[in-house]
Amino acid sequence: MKLAIFSGSTRDGSINRKLERALLPMLKEAGFDVTALSLADYDMPIYNGDWEEKNGAPQAAKDLGKKLAAQDAVIVVTPEYNGSLPPVLKNTIDWMTRIDDMSQYHNPVWAIAACTPGPMSGIMVMRQVHYILTRLGTEVLQFQLGVGNASDAFDDDGNLKNERNRDMAQKMISNLAERAAK
Ligand SMILES: Cc1cc2nc3c(=O)[nH]c(=O)nc-3n(C[C@H](O)[C@H](O)[C@H](O)COP(=O)(O)O)c2cc1C
Repeated sequence: MKLAIFSGSTRDGSINRKLERALLPMLKEAGFDVTALSLADYDMPIYNGDWEEKNGAPQAAKDLGKKLAAQDAVIVVTPEYNGSLPPVLKNTIDWMTRIDDMSQYHNPVWAIAACTPGPMSGIMVMRQVHYILTRLGTEVLQFQLGVGNASDAFDDDGNLKNERNRDMAQKMISNLAERAAK
């Protein structure tokens, strides 16, 4: 089964990218053929209708859409900004609704994860990403992986330190494998 994972943060020291990296060995262990993508490689202007009328959708939106459409599963690991989505993620999701094909939202099963410095673990942003994807007709896992208290969540090797987080990650991955196999 093919799976793509990407973060809603492009920051070098990103805790969400750290969570993404911690999930990679677990996903491989579960049998996924994993592609890790970075939104930094899919640079798009902030959506503007005049820009779109002049240029069409950015090539990056088409390329990313095509890549995601070819997967059985997609995981998005997102930061929370003011209880909501970081602009780069919302912009990417929006632009990918402006290309000719919606297969990126309709072929793979999507799952949502988040990592935050505080204890709340991104419950607000995960709910919103879930709402947006569902609205697009995407099959989205109900089970979400929220990792709070990031400074204490990872060991020196970058693995999830506490058992609860590891169990939650494992549960999301096995749910995803089950749904993606159907
Ligand atoms: C504009 C802005 C708004 C933020 N709002 C929230 C928030 O609502 N909830 C939260 O848990 N953290 C919030 N934070 C803190 C981020 O979770 C923190 O900066 C985190 O490290 C960002 O993710 P990253 O490390 O993957 O880039 C906010 C940060 C910024 C820059």
